[in-house]
Amino acid sequence: MKKAIVIGATSGIGKELARILHLNGYAVGMAGRRTELLRQLQGELPGSRVREIDVSSADEAMTLLKELIREMGGMDLAVIGSGVGFVNPGLYWKREKETIDVNVSGFAAVAGAAFKHFSDQGSGHIVGISSIAALRGSSEAPAYNASKAFVSNYLEGLRQKAIKSGAAIAVTDIRPGFVDTAMMKGKGLFWVSSPETAALQIYQAIARKKKRAYVTKRWSLIALALKVMPDWIYDRF
Ligand SMILES: NC(=O)c1ccc[n+]([C@@H]2O[C@H](COP(=O)([O-])OP(=O)(O)OC[C@H]3O[C@@H](n4cnc5c(N)ncnc54)[C@H](OP(=O)(O)O)[C@@H]3O)[C@@H](O)[C@H]2O)c1
Repeated sequence: MKKAIVIGATSGIGKELARILHLNGYAVGMAGRRTELLRQLQGELPGSRVREIDVSSADEAMTLLKELIREMGGMDLAVIGSGVGFVNPGLYWKREKETIDVNVSGFAAVAGAAFKHFSDQGSGHIVGISSIAALRGSSEAPAYNASKAFVSNYLEGLRQKAIKSGAAIAVTDIRPGFVDTAMMKGKGLFWVSSPETAALQIYQAIARKKKRAYVTKRWSLIALALKVMPDWIYDRF
């Protein structure tokens, strides 16, 4: 039986993905800070395991992830969906810092620990949930967009590292557009998908071991527009 660990499984996209992985025959380990929600989901998914992990305590998070891997008897798939996001045009440092602690330091810590595990094992699959926001900066949420650029770039680095080492480690960068979860904030939202639809498309990208996937698929059009848009137009948004 394949074993998957989803970090950030207490709500939203990660929770739905844990359900889909379970339905598709994976033994699932789930992590996040809200233990009560983890226990509820564990009750729904027989045989699953849970661990309270706060990725912003990076050293502790790496130790706890290793413990969960040991408890599960291994790991074939690591999904890192933990993330926070704030609309923060006032640049309040508390929010910028939390975004960096969770989405940058926390992400690098657990992605690195997962990569080392797969390196030792000679195979595995790392999936990081970045965002369409990775493509350009944002005046409304500077730290969030920058943190997602970090996630996507870090994943590309891990992919190159895997290829150079010859290990059979797949790396998938998931870039959602708007998904109707607690995190979705802001004005002028469009093409909003349900977490169920987003998780299903993420599962399909995982099954195909895609390098990167926009979720839902039509967000690849927005991605293209963002990539080619000159600064003088982008800066007016
Ligand atoms: N919703 C969107 O429109 C959208 C768009 C693009 C990308 N994304 C990305 O998708 C991912 C999932 O977000 P979501 O939309 O499903 O929102 P969500 O429901 O708020 O889920 C966020 C998840 O991250 C976990 N998390 C937050 N801080 C954490 C920490 N310090 N340690 C461990 N886990 C932590 C949360 O668990 P606890 O609070 O229990 O710790 C929760 O399970 C995020 O990385 C987000 O940036 C979302």
